[in-house]
Amino acid sequence: MVREPADGVIHLSVHPDPEATAAAAADLIADRIAAAQSARGIAHVSLAGGTTPRRAYELLAARLADREHVDWWFGDERCVPPDDPESNYRLVSESLIAGGIPAERVHRVHGEDAPEHAASAYADELALNVPPDTDGMPVLDVALLGLGEDGHTASLFPRDPSLDVTDALAVPVVAVKPPPNRITLTLPVLRAARDVIVLATGAGKRDAVTRVLAGPDPATPASLLADANVTLVVDAAAAP
Ligand code: 6PG
Repeated sequence: MVREPADGVIHLSVHPDPEATAAAAADLIADRIAAAQSARGIAHVSLAGGTTPRRAYELLAARLADREHVDWWFGDERCVPPDDPESNYRLVSESLIAGGIPAERVHRVHGEDAPEHAASAYADELALNVPPDTDGMPVLDVALLGLGEDGHTASLFPRDPSLDVTDALAVPVVAVKPPPNRITLTLPVLRAARDVIVLATGAGKRDAVTRVLAGPDPATPASLLADANVTLVVDAAAAP
């Protein structure tokens, strides 16, 4: 499978407020899912955690013409049980699954298991189910990511050794943002995605958004995605 060449440019999409930003993100994700389904019969989407994407997830299910042929993955997960308030799976369960997407298509990271084991099991499941490019790298159709105020994305934190991992699809990390124990997709997987969508709202994210646009810097992990097709979907408060 030949990947369309990424243009290496980060596209900025600014919207008036968080609600409009969530709707724009839901529209963009639904559009990319439909494109993948018509091209390959199925879409593979990795989802962001945290708090920002909840509204976009609540809006997304109704925008999908075909809810069956989508497999849902996680950009990262906290090492907690799936019913824990900190669980990214719980966020997806309360929004996307509650909105009507089939739970059996959601590939949960087993945060309740030992981190090393959960990370390798998740990486194996990804490799088994997501069609690879000519280099053998699984190619997600959409990687939806959030952005921390420090510029982290997924659970890839500033200057963390996980930023340099090239021989694993997912790794356990100890994060500065609680809860500390997490599992994250690595940069090679995220960079290989056909579309990377970074969703950020609020004035607290403006500095990180500005640094993402300023060019690649390990101090701002989200800036290291740049050789993918990246769209930064932000509200006016988070716009540079
Ligand atoms: C996580 C996320 C993380 C998140 C950012 C932004 O598991 O915490 O994947 O990368 O997207 O920290 O979080 P908010 O949306 O809560 O600001």
